[in-house]
Amino acid sequence: MTLRLFIPADAGALAVGAEEVASALGAAAARQKVAVDVVRTGSRGLYWLEPMVEVQTSAGRVAYGPVAASDAEGLLRAILADGAHALRQGLTEEIPWLKRQPRLTFARCGVVDPRSLEDYRAHDGCKGLERALALGPAATVEEVVQSGLRGRGGAGFPTGIKWRTVAQTPPQQKYIVCNADEGDSGTFADRMIMEGDPFVLIEGMAVAGIAVGATKGYVYIRSEYPHAAATMEAAIAAARRGGLLGDRVANSSFAFDMEVRVGAGAYVCGEETSLLDSLEGKRGLVRAKPPLPAHKGLFGRPTVINNVLSFASVPIIMDKGGAFYRDFGMGKSRGTVPIQLAGNIKYGGLFEAAFGITLGELVDDVGGGTRSGRPVRAVQVGGPLGAYFPRALFDTPFDYEAFAARDGLIGHGGIVVFDDTVDMAKQARFAMEFCAIESCGKCTPCRVGSTRGIEVIDHIIRGENRAANTALLEDLCHTLKFGSLCALGGFTPYPVMSALTYFPEDFGAPPRLAAE
Ligand SMILES: Cc1cc2nc3c(=O)[nH]c(=O)nc-3n(C[C@H](O)[C@H](O)[C@H](O)COP(=O)(O)O)c2cc1C
Ligand code: SF4
Repeated sequence: MTLRLFIPADAGALAVGAEEVASALGAAAARQKVAVDVVRTGSRGLYWLEPMVEVQTSAGRVAYGPVAASDAEGLLRAILADGAHALRQGLTEEIPWLKRQPRLTFARCGVVDPRSLEDYRAHDGCKGLERALALGPAATVEEVVQSGLRGRGGAGFPTGIKWRTVAQTPPQQKYIVCNADEGDSGTFADRMIMEGDPFVLIEGMAVAGIAVGATKGYVYIRSEYPHAAATMEAAIAAARRGGLLGDRVANSSFAFDMEVRVGAGAYVCGEETSLLDSLEGKRGLVRAKPPLPAHKGLFGRPTVINNVLSFASVPIIMDKGGAFYRDFGMGKSRGTVPIQLAGNIKYGGLFEAAFGITLGELVDDVGGGTRSGRPVRAVQVGGPLGAYFPRALFDTPFDYEAFAARDGLIGHGGIVVFDDTVDMAKQARFAMEFCAIESCGKCTPCRVGSTRGIEVIDHIIRGENRAANTALLEDLCHTLKFGSLCALGGFTPYPVMSALTYFPEDFGAPPRLAAE
């Protein structure tokens, strides 16, 4: 009998010892004379259980975690006996945290071998592409429009409308660009897809290429993601060998191929026009719009630029239909959103949910509160440019419009939790400092305003002319918000002003009344 084990090779699992666990289990198997077949998967996203080892049984996969290398000998013995062990979590699919998620985009992540096209096909892969080929380009674009999918990179722009714009430009060389810069704090969903289910991204980009008439794609990956880049490279090579990419995609008359490009490490290179400059080999500098990338993008050609999660959502939309996908969600936020729970949180990880779940449910119920056990004081949603929400706003549903109505943003779906030891004046200062460091320097409000912002916050923290300096900070934030060329300068006021509004006591002012 050969024992089938699944051990993540995801960077998050590797960081907590997955490689050591894999070799210790291999050595234990040799000592106990057991034949094992180890599949290196991505992560299921239950990071507090990583390294999580799964075992194939007749009832399904059974999970054990968090496993240490020193557990290997005993764990293997337990698996070979009746399976009982202190680290046993039961059938993976029955773990309540996982079971309550509608996993549409992340259905295969942590399940399949990310380097095997055969495994991808065996788990419903390529069905979306097949349907897109059967429907043809125009109907494919309309299916994506109908799904209600909005860009998962941050701005929430309707993906189908973007594709339609590129499709309607006259035939010429067009490009598909995937934004895998994933610079937001507390986010890791793009990385998980690239390391755990890279073919879903390749399939989504190929569908985009066919839909808009583009034959070439690029995945722009941040340099901090070497595992993701390596897995993508391997998957692209396998996709070429398997006929998913090349001159005749899946034996059709459409050609599409793609390449990986690794960035040099700048937050602003996640901004789409700056990313295009960087892809062209220049310094990443934000371009003024218009022209839109859809009209004049990479090398001046019509370009679809989407986030990893936007492309990765396309195969299931094409397979099950736009109506199936838009059935999930609320208001104008349709489908599911991969939420990343991070910071000081007990159960951190990837939680895919239909839009509409509230912030409170995510932090208290799903996340289990803080890891430190202290009360939650603030959460920052949407990366470094997102607002800090106090408990009073925990009834906000995950919905683009609901967050915007409260001067917040969903961004890329990252939630960073802070307990009651956080100093919100320092967090506000950090937001300005981040903007000053990462500014591309093209426009004055951001380039100069962020540095002046740090100085003004320092004056407030030191108690110097507090009222006048607070008014000055508000005025400066107004200028940044309305005078900046891109959202780096334009959104920095969100974390700053939310800290000032909801946590005035940290700036030396009287606390807000509960009813305010
Ligand atoms: C400063 C800044 C950084 C950004 N970083 C990212 C990023 O890392 N990943 C991403 O997908 N979008 C990022 N965006 C949003 C992109 O500009 C763009 O909206 C996105 O790539 C469009 O794809 P989508 O419609 O699929 O979301 C950033 C925007 C700004 C202003
Ligand atoms: S807001 Fe900042 S990052 Fe954006 S264009 Fe202006 S200087 Fe560059």
